Amino acid sequence: MSRTEHTVASAETRDDWSTADAGALYRVDAWGGGWFRVNDNGHVSAVCAGVEVDLVDVVEGLRARGVGTPVLLRLTDILDARLRQLRNAFDGAMRENGYRGAYRGVYPIKVNQQHHVVSEIAAVGRELGFGLEAGSKPELLAVIAMTSSDDDQLIICNGFKDERYIDMAVLAAKLGRSIVPVVENLDELRLILQAGERYGVRPDIGVRVKLSSKGAGRWKDSAGTRSKFGLFVSEAMEVIHVLRERGMLDCLKLLHCHVGSQIQDISRIKDSVAELAHIYVEMSRLGAGLELLDVGGGLGVDYRGEQVNDESSMNYTLEEFASDVVYRITSACDEAGVEHPAIVTECGRAMVAYSSVLVFDILGATGPARAERPGAGVDETPRDEDPQPIRDLREALSMTDGARLDESYHDAKNALADAISSFRLGYISLEQRALAERLYWRVCRRLRESMRGDDDYAQELTELDESLAEVYFANFSLFQSMPDAWAIDQLFPIMPLHRLNERPTRRVIIGDLTCDSDGRIDRFIGEDGPTGVLDVHELRDEAYYMGAFLVGAYQETLGDLHNLFGDVHAVHLRVEDGRWSIEEIVRGDTSAEVLEYLQHQPKAFQSRMARDCDKAVRASRMTAGEAGALMKFYESSLSGYTYFEHTGGAG
Ligand SMILES: Cc1ncc(COP(=O)(O)O)c(C=O)c1O
Repeated sequence: MSRTEHTVASAETRDDWSTADAGALYRVDAWGGGWFRVNDNGHVSAVCAGVEVDLVDVVEGLRARGVGTPVLLRLTDILDARLRQLRNAFDGAMRENGYRGAYRGVYPIKVNQQHHVVSEIAAVGRELGFGLEAGSKPELLAVIAMTSSDDDQLIICNGFKDERYIDMAVLAAKLGRSIVPVVENLDELRLILQAGERYGVRPDIGVRVKLSSKGAGRWKDSAGTRSKFGLFVSEAMEVIHVLRERGMLDCLKLLHCHVGSQIQDISRIKDSVAELAHIYVEMSRLGAGLELLDVGGGLGVDYRGEQVNDESSMNYTLEEFASDVVYRITSACDEAGVEHPAIVTECGRAMVAYSSVLVFDILGATGPARAERPGAGVDETPRDEDPQPIRDLREALSMTDGARLDESYHDAKNALADAISSFRLGYISLEQRALAERLYWRVCRRLRESMRGDDDYAQELTELDESLAEVYFANFSLFQSMPDAWAIDQLFPIMPLHRLNERPTRRVIIGDLTCDSDGRIDRFIGEDGPTGVLDVHELRDEAYYMGAFLVGAYQETLGDLHNLFGDVHAVHLRVEDGRWSIEEIVRGDTSAEVLEYLQHQPKAFQSRMARDCDKAVRASRMTAGEAGALMKFYESSLSGYTYFEHTGGAG
């Protein structure tokens, strides 16, 4: 019997349930990185700068200030702590390997470009020697303005570069910024050299190479010879040739590769860094003035908390990553007698994922339990004229506590399928179809109770759990707030934020607010690996808050306006003097704002509605009072939150 079955099965027969059981069920310690825990009140706390911040207190406090759910909590202390962890891991690995170069972390702002996040990283980065990476013109505009020339913060320029992008990078060097445009194709080299001449600058130049070592996992095509970016080694040689001819080989300062995001298997990192390090030493021997070796991003986040080679996990730790990178570069350089370069990483996901939590409330539930409910005009009395599928379902029901449970399950599935096709052909009535449905769900529920705890039925039990799961309707949009859960089946830890000292008695999937059947989450982190259902509590006449964790990387700007659900409220929290305080509340989009994004004109809508109301009053279809109420409602909805607002409550 698996641990999950044990906890939930025994929960049904035993009254005791502790917060430790909840912690184990949701694997908080495994994925939480030490930053999240279940506290004695049965709430989830974030551990920020050594202080426990009860997330339910935060959400209730925000509600009292008129900021309802969904809300994104940005935990600034966790962001800072994570940056320090990265720095410490490389410092440790460099000490261990007797490394003589520096470590320079660079944050690729595409991972989360929100001002608060970037400015916090830039500020802490001044102390830690971290810089920023830009992958487009607007990103570069932000990055140049958010770094300073005094602190020697490294700026790396990746992505496709037009003349204006390159001019900006070259002029920023004149301003005193430590900036390296990375050549991704030979045209860019030409533009950099022209800009250098135009402005009288000897620019620092980087090259990105295509490694032969392939990436792995979802972003495996970021590396390898078919990758979109970077130069073939033969082209990199041409760069060297061109620079040598111009007497500018000393300008070639940085060698770069990026093998993909969320690298799940450490062997890919070992291979690619080893290959890159050898290219580095060879280029150095050819006279390039290389000083920086940029191994790109890709450090994973263990969303599953299982440290396995899987797309939502990784089979290594941060320390192992740092150690492998440093070791491979050290040995390649030492062998060739080349000076140790400054090691640059562009690990974005691993920097920011932990620091954001999306909190949402549950609005209601639906599921087979409703279909099974007796009454509602369905007569269940057996009759001689019952069609065969209904007789088969009654037969299956009679076998639900016997020895042949799987047979009963298979019979019930067949009988339901027969009932549906008979209905389609007009052989059975709507009432008989409703009865068949109800009997089927009853068979399933009884079978689940009888099978639980019996290893022989593991497969059937999983299937039953999934088909009997209720849908909990959640107040958020998957497409806006967790697009990767939809687009690439990314797993995020999701769990209730409170009542964790109570046994969860419901198994559910999550449906979001959009009118899209894809707007659902039906894969969760379970005690024994990913599961199709999430254990939660029965809804009561009070708010039920849940959290989606580790959503700080890539989710915010990739999100879209499906069904016109806009940005959620974002709240920045920081611990000061041992207590959490709100640094900033960034209100989510209003309905008027999202309409304007799509070139609608809310003001014109308002006037049009006012005219129509006026006409309706004159035609006596509406009273003046009703027209006034409609207009008031229309106007307040335009300035209101796009998400479900609880009447009289915060939105
Ligand atoms: C060039 C480059 N550097 C860094 C990153 C960041 O990767 P990650 O967030 O996985 O560390 C990316 C993202 O794919 C990238 O394309």
